[in-house]
Amino acid sequence: MEQDEFSAFERRGWETVAQAYHSYFGELTTQSNEALLDALEVRAGVQFLDVASGPGYLAAAAARRGADVVGVDFADAMLQQARRIFPDLAFRPGSAEDLPFPDMSFDAVGISFGMLHFAHPEAALAEAFRVLRPGGRISFTVWAPPDQTIGFGMVLKAIEKHGRTDVQLPPGPPFFRFSDSHESERALLGAGFVAPRIEEVRQILHIRVPETPFDVLMCGGVRVAAILRAQSPEALASIQKAVADDAASYTNNGEVQVPMPCMLASARKP
Ligand SMILES: C[S@@+](CC[C@H](N)C(=O)[O-])C[C@H]1O[C@@H](n2cnc3c(N)ncnc32)[C@H](O)[C@@H]1O
Repeated sequence: MEQDEFSAFERRGWETVAQAYHSYFGELTTQSNEALLDALEVRAGVQFLDVASGPGYLAAAAARRGADVVGVDFADAMLQQARRIFPDLAFRPGSAEDLPFPDMSFDAVGISFGMLHFAHPEAALAEAFRVLRPGGRISFTVWAPPDQTIGFGMVLKAIEKHGRTDVQLPPGPPFFRFSDSHESERALLGAGFVAPRIEEVRQILHIRVPETPFDVLMCGGVRVAAILRAQSPEALASIQKAVADDAASYTNNGEVQVPMPCMLASARKP
């Protein structure tokens, strides 16, 4: 599998955070699984591919509907995690940009919070198109913009105020590119899909105090974590405190609850 610098950076990151991702994000990203599967019309007998399956949540939700499922991910640690949590399901190593499946082998392809991590998201859509049968459906979720995904907003604002934003990461597509509905529509149509639809899905991040969105992004993610790790110890302490101060107004009964909605984009192969 050929890796450019950004893919290699993402892959290394996911290899190290698989367990923490499950602890910090598992309860959150699963909140949009049913909406995503509804958009894909997944039901018993549908052949379903979960791309960038991570710990396997979407594949598992599709299997609960009676679909025949397989998950694909390029990080071994994520595949191991998925096989541990869902031992009865099939998870295969592979790149979203070069899927290890024949043409027209699935009825539905779902990508839950994967598109924003791909070096070449257009290549991933082209691959989804290739492996879908005519009439098959694609859906993907990405985070809503940071003024709505309050957890991201808090951390990014604190970095801007107390740290440096000029951290050099391997160049990749903007994190919030597909948060813009027009961009998702354009990419889906460009890959040959028709009838694109974009909707916002409500999700809430729940964190036990004293942790805050700072801990979630520092421990459970890749790109924002790398930006945080590049800060000086003093700046990092100020960022952590600023997020804690901000999070206080979202705290209820020892739990921080912040809105973290996602954008759900769907379309059909003609
Ligand atoms: C944010 S996690 C999403 C996991 C899961 N789908 C969910 O909704 O919680 C991103 C996943 O995408 C995988 N990934 C990133 N780029 C990939 C690529 N080019 N090909 C295959 N998997 C990729 C990572 O290994 C990671 O498991």
